[in-house]
Amino acid sequence: MKALFEILKPGEKDWDLARMLDPGRLPRHIAIIMDGNGRWASRRNLPRVAGHKAGIEAVRATVETSARIGIEIVTLYAFSTENWKRPRSEVETLWNLLHTYIRKELPTLMENNIRMRPIGRLHQLPEQVRQDLEAAMNETSGNTGLLVNLAINYSGRAEIVDAVNAAVRAAREAGAVDEHFRLDEALIAAHLYTAGQPEPDLLIRTSGELRISNFLLWQIAYAEIYVTPTLWPDFRRTDLLEALLEYQKRDRRFGGLAGTRSGNPDSSFIEALGSPAQ
Ligand code: IPE
Ligand code: IPE
Ligand code: MG
Repeated sequence: MKALFEILKPGEKDWDLARMLDPGRLPRHIAIIMDGNGRWASRRNLPRVAGHKAGIEAVRATVETSARIGIEIVTLYAFSTENWKRPRSEVETLWNLLHTYIRKELPTLMENNIRMRPIGRLHQLPEQVRQDLEAAMNETSGNTGLLVNLAINYSGRAEIVDAVNAAVRAAREAGAVDEHFRLDEALIAAHLYTAGQPEPDLLIRTSGELRISNFLLWQIAYAEIYVTPTLWPDFRRTDLLEALLEYQKRDRRFGGLAGTRSGNPDSSFIEALGSPAQ
């Protein structure tokens, strides 16, 4: 949080929002469905690709703010396996933008100790895109600060299928596949693209759509979901701070009873019993 206050000025809105955050209860991992680029452009009578281009500034702001706050992991949904259904020209523009973004941002990622890891079925991507992603991953692999998972040609179902196949393959290679062999949650989780990472605590979706669109299906089992009507190209530091404040209001129960923050459920039950009839 200290690095965030270095760039904020007392009295400005983001300063006030940041002051309200509890540094002890920040999410470790934030996942974001970056949606609404096309609508952002349409509202300005611009071609859809102008929205994708404008979205890059939102990525920059989100990555910088997350790093300054001290978030450990941010997973950004940039391209789904279903996005191939879009016109070829739109898809190609996305690859070109990615190429430019990586080339331009690499020095900033290095300066800020940020690690970039692509996740998805990368082998199906055009050669140049794969090379760009691999170069960024290799170059930043020694960094120890914020980890940015960039979900590209990503599908939550495909990830689970890939994880199951990888788990079975590993077990077979270890000679462990016999009639007693069973997959379990730990084994599948150990072969996900995000193996070893804590699951997202907070899932943000921009542009108001109330759906998951095949993102991190396994990992979001208990993520807190935050949907904002803000379109992705308009998403900035203030929006992220507002999402974090909302996250800190949630009572994460994980199927259990109310957490410490909302008090002991037993005592509130007893209080309710003792209150006059409504
Ligand atoms: C999200 O914005 C970016 C990608 C899916 C690549 P959209 O392009 O889906 O924008 P809308 O949802 O059509 O407004
Ligand atoms: C989800 O957005 C994928 C990304 C943000 C990359 P979409 O725009 O593809 O999702 P739908 O079609 O509205 O569900
Ligand atoms: Mg969309």
